[in-house]
Order: sequence, then structure tokens, then C-alpha cells
Amino acid sequence: MIKIQTAVPGPKSLRILKKLEQKNGAWSVAYPLVFSGRGEGAYCEDIDGNCFLDFSSQIASNPMGYNHPELIEVLKSYARFPIKYAGQDFTVKEHLDLIEEILSVSPKGMNSAFLINSGAEAVENAIKICMRKRPKAKFGISMKRAFHGRTLGALSLTNSSRVQKKGYMRFPMYRLSYDETAGDQLEDIIKREGDAEEIAFLVMEHVQGEGGYYIAPAKMVDLLRKTTKKYGIPYIADEIQSGMGRTGKWWAFENYGIRPDVFSSAKALQVGAVVSAKSMFPDEVGAISSTWGGGALLDMAISIKTIQIIKKQKLLERNRKFGNLLLKGLEDLDVKNQRGIGLMLAFDLDSVKERDNLVIECAKRGLIVLGCAQKSVRLVPPYVVTVEDAQKALEIIDDSLRTIRRKGFRLSGKICRFTNCGKHVI
Ligand SMILES: Cc1ncc(COP(=O)(O)O)c(C=O)c1O
Repeated sequence: MIKIQTAVPGPKSLRILKKLEQKNGAWSVAYPLVFSGRGEGAYCEDIDGNCFLDFSSQIASNPMGYNHPELIEVLKSYARFPIKYAGQDFTVKEHLDLIEEILSVSPKGMNSAFLINSGAEAVENAIKICMRKRPKAKFGISMKRAFHGRTLGALSLTNSSRVQKKGYMRFPMYRLSYDETAGDQLEDIIKREGDAEEIAFLVMEHVQGEGGYYIAPAKMVDLLRKTTKKYGIPYIADEIQSGMGRTGKWWAFENYGIRPDVFSSAKALQVGAVVSAKSMFPDEVGAISSTWGGGALLDMAISIKTIQIIKKQKLLERNRKFGNLLLKGLEDLDVKNQRGIGLMLAFDLDSVKERDNLVIECAKRGLIVLGCAQKSVRLVPPYVVTVEDAQKALEIIDDSLRTIRRKGFRLSGKICRFTNCGKHVI
């Protein structure tokens, strides 16, 4: 149940946030509250005793919600040390168990996975394995508005926001429009450059995440997959935000009936992973590795259990059904471009300011939602969301919209200390 008993952020949170603002080298707090660890289902408490309905799932990385009883049992069974092994070099059984679970839900022929620590590192290694296969490669291809992470390799592919790239060196890329002209654009690039072997890879989010929750047009995917196959260009699906069942399929590319050469996963998976055919990975020992990749016991154990719960409770069908329900609800709201697939939904407002006002007003009422792109709000609830939660979220959004559209409305309060009220939140 939502319970807001102090200002947001409350006094205890405020004290910590103020210190963090000074001491955290990369301050970018999206939500001015400090989580206490208490909570249940889609609800989480802050350290001031306020209880929020979380429609962000910790940016799509907490699919099972808060304190899921089966995951708590896993946590209890891992009270031993070390909890992190140097997993590529000093193997533990969970490494194999997790790879087998991932492969059990991956397309036929994708018979090998490499575990790593984060989403950006998963992308980084996906492009590295493709580069090894393409010794003549000089550049890569990604999409406009793409987000693939912030390590320097992944950042080269990213294109969603200027601030992420400013001042950083990167390797050469072409970018295609995220629409049905992309196939022709790719053919033009190949003609102009004269040799398709100079292309290391094409990388694609089948539902764009940070870039705006745009769903790839089927014709675009079909053309790009055909063209990449024709020229032997490795096709990478970035499933870091859209994967692990969120769209109602294990992987968003499955909504298009295609199979990529490589895909990356992280967030909801709890670890980073690159999945492909064994033949795509470098033979040389040490060409790709990392101390903790495949060695974080807790992460792997939670990941294994998460996959098992999704299978056992048939959550793919549930996500599809709940997604449709939420989308119907969004269509009744006075907002624009309602869109979504499974539990990956968004809508647009008229300006950045209006969008940011809505996100903050929802937070004050106990609903956590996230912005994305310029004017969009995304809804990314955990897979345990109930019909009542969905109705409550829609009610709060509707109510908040009416408030922020009142003549003379101005955000105020402690929340403005951290969110630059009405200017930019995230
Ligand atoms: C599609 C996509 N790729 C890559 C990343 C980077 O993941 P991480 O933040 O774990 O490095 C993200 C993170 O939001 C993402 O949404």
C-alpha cells in the first residue's frame, strides 16, 4: 500500500542525499529517496517510512519486485564467504547452472554464453567477439537514438544523449534511422564504402530503452536482418533492457521471428551475458575475460532462480496480458503516443518540463515512474504487478496530470532541491 508520511524526500533521506551529493563522484540521482530494503511485491519503503509503488523496477533491473520469498530463500542459503569468485579462472557450479538456464531460453544454435558484470560490459564483449571475426572491419553500425552503455566501446554505439558522449574518443560508426528506410540506408553505406567486410557488426535494440521506448517496425527488422545475412555482417541484439521476458517473450527480437548472431543481456538477468554460437567466440584463451565475470555467486544464484520463477509461473504470458491491460488504461489518459509491448510501456507529453513535472508529481504521491528520451514517461513495472497496482498507477498518473496542468502550477518543496523541479530530472 502506498503510504506517504513525510515530505519526499523525508528528513532521514535528505541527510544522506545531501552528503552523497557532495561525496559521490558521479551524482545522477533519478529519485530523491533512500531505499530501506523493506517492501513487498511492487512496493518499496524508504528510510523515512514512506512506501512507494515502483513502476520503474529499478530501471528494469528488478523484475521480481521487492523481497520475493523464493529469492529471500536463495539469499539465506548463500551466507558464506567469498561471495565473489574470480569466476572465469576459478570456476563454481553456479557458473554452469546459469549458462544452462540462459541457453534453455535462447534460440536453437545459440549454444554458448559468456558471463560478465554489467550491461555495458556485455555490449562491449558482444562487439569484441564480432570484431575478432571481421579482421578487415573499420566501423560499426548502430541506430539513431540508441543506448548501449557508457564504457568507451559501448559509448561509441550510443546515440541517445549528447551529455553521455561529450569529450570522449570513440570508434567510427554509421547510424541508421530507426524506421523503414534503414534497410536502404544500410545498402547505401555498403555501396559507398565498397566492401561489406569493413563492417564489424550491426547492433540494435528491438525496443529502444533510454532513447524513448520505441518499438522497432517489423519491416525495418526484416530488411536489416536480410541485408546483414546477405553480406555476412554480424547482427547483435541488445536485450539489456528489453530481455528476460519483459516484452512477453524471453527476448524482444523473438517478437520479429528473427535470430540474431549475438545478443547481450543484463539488468533483469542480474549479471551481464553475451549469448551466441560457440563458433562466434575467440578460440584464444584470455581474449575476453574479467576477474568477477561469472563468479558473483549471489548474482548468479538470483539469476538462476529468476529464470526458473519466470518459467514456473508462466510470467511471459502474464506480462503480455498485463501489458495489454496497462496500454488500454493509458489510452484513456490525456497523453500522446501511448505505446508498449508487454511490461515496457511509454507515452509522450508536450514538453520536457511537463514530463519532468509529471514524474515528480507522481513521486510525491507515491508512484515511481521514469522519464526517457525528451518528453516520454516509461512504465516498467515488476512482473509481480497486480491489477490493483495497475489501476492505482493509472489513477495517480491521471490525477497528477490534472494537477500539473492547473493554471499557475509550480512545483515546490524539498524534492526540488535534488530534481531541478520542472527543468530536468533524469
Ligand atoms: C539497451 C541497453 N544497453 C546497455 C545498457 C548499459 O547497461 P549498464 O547500465 O548495466 O552498463 C543499458 C542500460 O540502461 C541499456 O538499456
